Amino acid sequence: MVSDQQDGAIIGRKSFTAVAINCAAKAGEWIKTKLGNYEKLDTKMSAQDLVTEVDKGSEKLIKRLILTHFPDHSFLGEEGVEPGPEASAKALESKLQDEYLWIVDPIDGTTNFVHGFPFFVVSIALAYRGEVIVGVVYDPLKDELFLAEKGKGAYVHGKRMSVSPEDTLGSGLVATGFPADQQYALPLNMKGLQALAPQVRNIRSGGSAALHMAYVAAGRLSGFWEIGLNSWDLAAGSLLVQESGGQVTDTSGRPYHLGVRNVAASNGHIHGELVDALTKAEAAE
Ligand code: IPD
Ligand code: CA
Ligand code: CA
Repeated sequence: MVSDQQDGAIIGRKSFTAVAINCAAKAGEWIKTKLGNYEKLDTKMSAQDLVTEVDKGSEKLIKRLILTHFPDHSFLGEEGVEPGPEASAKALESKLQDEYLWIVDPIDGTTNFVHGFPFFVVSIALAYRGEVIVGVVYDPLKDELFLAEKGKGAYVHGKRMSVSPEDTLGSGLVATGFPADQQYALPLNMKGLQALAPQVRNIRSGGSAALHMAYVAAGRLSGFWEIGLNSWDLAAGSLLVQESGGQVTDTSGRPYHLGVRNVAASNGHIHGELVDALTKAEAAE
């Protein structure tokens, strides 16, 4: 008989994924019961940066479940970090070297959740020594679970995902977001929007970076870019896109890592054009 010890890597990896799925599903189901039904709305960094008790409750539920299974793992969740880019970068920096680090956005798309606009998700990633090895994005309203394991592909509804075939920016459907940071991120993103709008087939902005990334992975979007995101917005989605055959870099075309805040993700075919257009518009960083 093979002991857990001997077979540790395989058993370990499998159960990481099972726990990630279970957390996302449990949190997602609970969030759904709170739709149109939250009690407390607060703002964080700016008037556009919202948080409810449901964001906090979702993170608490996920953290408790993860640490029950893996008490020696590290945890980084949005609601456990002070608002603002400096605090986020510092929090990530302090945990980046940890062996196993869970990176969680308990609701990505809080503004949508608050307004009842049906485009928000739970995003859960596990990084091993700074590299994402499991990514789960769960959309509770559509009951769609996007899952990727490093080197093993990405799946939705148990079906293998692959990115879309468009090979020119002009034939691409591209998404972006409107960051809550009005000082630095929003103006830069608006420059990109201005430059890209006439160059692409069309632009969408659903209001959840993690779900946009999942849609790039699923071939529903050709690309996505946004300035000023955090590790928890992108970690799970980055693996979804890569494992679906797409490309993820910063907006200047440098390789993705957990510290990337300005992201460009695409089906790969339009990546060069996307990054070039942002760079030319001085909208990359
Ligand atoms: C936000 C969403 C939104 C993006 C913002 C993010 P949150 O995350 O991903 O699409 O434009 O920049 O902060 O606050 O809903 O978790
Ligand atoms: Ca987020
Ligand atoms: Ca959030």
